Amino acid sequence: MNVSMIAAMGKNRVIGKDNDLPWHLPDDFKYFQETTKGHFVIMGRKNWESLPHKFQPLPGRTNLVITHRNDYQAGGALVFNTLEAALRLARDKSEREAFIIGGGEVYRMGLPHADTIYLTEIDGEFEGAVTFPEFSEEDWTEVSRHHHKIDDRHAFSFDFVIYKRR
Ligand SMILES: NC(=O)c1ccc[n+]([C@@H]2O[C@H](COP(=O)([O-])OP(=O)(O)OC[C@H]3O[C@@H](n4cnc5c(N)ncnc54)[C@H](OP(=O)(O)O)[C@@H]3O)[C@@H](O)[C@H]2O)c1
Repeated sequence: MNVSMIAAMGKNRVIGKDNDLPWHLPDDFKYFQETTKGHFVIMGRKNWESLPHKFQPLPGRTNLVITHRNDYQAGGALVFNTLEAALRLARDKSEREAFIIGGGEVYRMGLPHADTIYLTEIDGEFEGAVTFPEFSEEDWTEVSRHHHKIDDRHAFSFDFVIYKRR
């Protein structure tokens, strides 16, 4: 099974502020939906709680939530106490590509497991306490990059980048 991470970050690595995204980029949201459709998606409890109710669970995907709590209920999602247990289920169900979809704590935990990173690199700096972990060019190679311009619906330009572990 391929383990992938998918995230969007600013130039200063910020990915989140006050349990929300610091930007509104509909084509990035569309890319996230298309890339993860039909797959297992693994997220932290805070990311789960930040989803609008109509996207709990994210439709057309098997939603897995990670928490330390034993009695946590996430309607429409499966709850695990470790990332490893969530990945094990995905493997047992013959998933070919499981996606770690954040937030910051779960990306940090997921990085050693990941084979691929789908990273939207936004041309802006943002305020916010949650960041994407640093990863080294020694370990990762860029395999594709597609630019998206500023337009009426997007206040920032950005690149859809895919990195693979060397
Ligand atoms: N830009 C992006 O691509 C993107 C994507 C996703 C999310 N976000 C943003 O990221 C922010 C949320 O990220 P976050 O770092 O605050 O939280 P998070 O990673 O979504 O969730 C953190 C929670 O995960 C659970 N957890 C963490 N490590 C664990 C472990 N080792 N074992 C068991 N459970 C563990 C804990 O839940 P308990 O406290 O319940 O134990 C912890 O509080 C939001 O602002 C969101 O909008 C951005």
